[in-house]
Amino acid sequence: DDRTIHIGFSQAMTTDEWRQQMNKSMRIEAALHPEVALDIRDAQNDVNQQVKDIGNLIKTNPDVLIVSPIASEPITSVVQKAYEHGIPVLIVDRKIQGESFSAFLGADNIEVGRTAANYIAANSTGSGKVIEITGLEESSPAYERALGFAQGLRKYPAISIVATIHGDWEKTSVKTPLRKLFSERTDIEYVFAHNDRMAQGAWEVAQSMGLEHQIKFVGVDGLNTPNGGIQLVKKGKLEATVLYPTGGNEALKLALEIVQGKSFARNYILNTIVINKMNAELMENQMNKIDQQQAIMDSQQQAIQQQEAKYTSQNTLLKLVTVL
Ligand code: FRU
Repeated sequence: DDRTIHIGFSQAMTTDEWRQQMNKSMRIEAALHPEVALDIRDAQNDVNQQVKDIGNLIKTNPDVLIVSPIASEPITSVVQKAYEHGIPVLIVDRKIQGESFSAFLGADNIEVGRTAANYIAANSTGSGKVIEITGLEESSPAYERALGFAQGLRKYPAISIVATIHGDWEKTSVKTPLRKLFSERTDIEYVFAHNDRMAQGAWEVAQSMGLEHQIKFVGVDGLNTPNGGIQLVKKGKLEATVLYPTGGNEALKLALEIVQGKSFARNYILNTIVINKMNAELMENQMNKIDQQQAIMDSQQQAIQQQEAKYTSQNTLLKLVTVL
């Protein structure tokens, strides 16, 4: 059908809930537009696989290509190839290098880092000594969150980063080095981890050493899922998390605007906010409401499609009967 809008999406991986949530909200938004065919390819956190996925998506000649890169540098040239082919490219969350893309959508990660710095400075009641746990080195949010965090702390000489652990976004990467650090020094007040999964890993290490009430943990993501940041805050494991929206539905909406030739911003920045005990419940309720509304719209859309299918088949039957 030539009215179909083909949207290809190269997703970095789907092992974590943040990415699952991104895909889910993108699919729900796509379902609201019956003319959209959404093709999601999962690179399973393998850069070579993502290069292949994007190559294969280029062959399908999509109306828009959405890419959430695993790492910046290795994904840049294949994205450039798509862009030079005339395919509009929308980059989400992690960035590529250079300018060969149509638009970028995501929260400002420098701002995320700065927000964490301001939060820790405003709530510090002890030594002000912080361990920072970074995300995967070659992915832009890790670099930008570290940059924003350092920038933010410059205003507060009483707060200092005394050690940095280079994580890879997953909690197993942080445990051994953190256990060593916790046993070497007793003056740590805060751990700032670049996402909630690593922050949870840090809390687990502290708990295994009986330190979970002494050290405070701040993460990033703030997912509203059973294991997500909002619940971790409500359970008191994290003192706070900085919301990092996945942008799944916004990405799909923006992709459609690009196809429809509407004018669009080159940088579409999603909002961020600190979630702590004060607003965790409120955020949970708000997000639940949005989820419920999306589910309702989704089921209404499905009902409409079923009705349409029924109508088409009845119509065909009617025509057949008339012919006979
Ligand atoms: C999900 C994730 C998030 C993090 C984001 C950064 O795969 O690791 O936890 O905020 O990627 O790109």
